[in-house]
Amino acid sequence: MKFFITGGSGLLGERLSAVADNDYELISSHNVNPTENTIKCDITNKQEVEQVILKYEPDVIIHCAAMTNVDLCEDEIDKAYAINGNGTGNLAKAAEKIGAKIIYVSTDFVFDGKNGYYKEEDSVNPLGIYAKSKYDGEIQLQQYSNNWAIARVSVLYGWHNRPNFTTWVINQLRQNNPINIVTDQINSPTFADNAAEIMFEIAKQDKTGIFHTAGNDRISRYDFTKKIAEEFNLNEDLINPVTSEEFVQKAPRPMDSSLNVSKVEKELGIPMETCSESLRRMADSE
Ligand SMILES: NC(=O)c1ccc[n+]([C@@H]2O[C@H](COP(=O)([O-])OP(=O)(O)OC[C@H]3O[C@@H](n4cnc5c(N)ncnc54)[C@H](OP(=O)(O)O)[C@@H]3O)[C@@H](O)[C@H]2O)c1
Repeated sequence: MKFFITGGSGLLGERLSAVADNDYELISSHNVNPTENTIKCDITNKQEVEQVILKYEPDVIIHCAAMTNVDLCEDEIDKAYAINGNGTGNLAKAAEKIGAKIIYVSTDFVFDGKNGYYKEEDSVNPLGIYAKSKYDGEIQLQQYSNNWAIARVSVLYGWHNRPNFTTWVINQLRQNNPINIVTDQINSPTFADNAAEIMFEIAKQDKTGIFHTAGNDRISRYDFTKKIAEEFNLNEDLINPVTSEEFVQKAPRPMDSSLNVSKVEKELGIPMETCSESLRRMADSE
């Protein structure tokens, strides 16, 4: 099976390459941060996308590339829609030209967080520009492709050369720096390796539709941070609980965007990992 991965220089893209079966053929792509295993493909450039996809003819595109800085999206609205919305449309159109399947990595932020523990069929109501532009990607995907899947993840983490929430916490606590963490935002932190494994499974089992491929927990950011400290033997006393009111961020955040992941187990036959299981795997692989 041949895969084309966008966002190959990012956290999830890199972990997809790391966990892929040996007999898969992978073509991984970047935009401005090349790695030794990636080729250039700017997803906002329709011609470039079409050229690259027609050249490599993958069976499946796993589309991870995005403008992921949630607060920056509030300042650079056009860019956010160009990458997250139209970039996804460009890939879906190119995939359709060669009859490829496309799996789009989306986000728990498509929900407004009023209820939490969301199922795939629940109504969305994205709050900020990042969330709205990622949802636009979901719409364009379904508009232009006839063979699509959406894999929604939440607070991705894992080993990568750029910091993510978990590696930032580990670094801060290892340097004995106190950190302020919100107690009232709840989600389903997702180990990138585990999400990557399930995305390959969606491809292998040729599934279509929406899947919540997130961590198997409904947990506050504060409790998750305490679990990180516990698993990595770090000083929990450095973690200060704060509320969202005290910890002001530019973009609006859903209060409880946790995802119900039972469909993955039911349809793919594999349960998603809990954060305790994933953090242990992460610690073991350091
Ligand atoms: N991180 C999270 O907590 C989180 C939570 C929910 C959902 N997600 C979703 O999960 C996916 C993967 O996230 P991640 O954290 O692994 O991402 P990441 O580490 O921030 O990497 C983003 C990737 O997107 C690429 N990219 C940006 N603009 C591009 C463009 N115009 N053309 C082509 N590539 C472009 C970047 O390439 P260059 O580096 O070469 O520019 C990079 O490889 C994203 O779709 C994101 O929306 C993430």
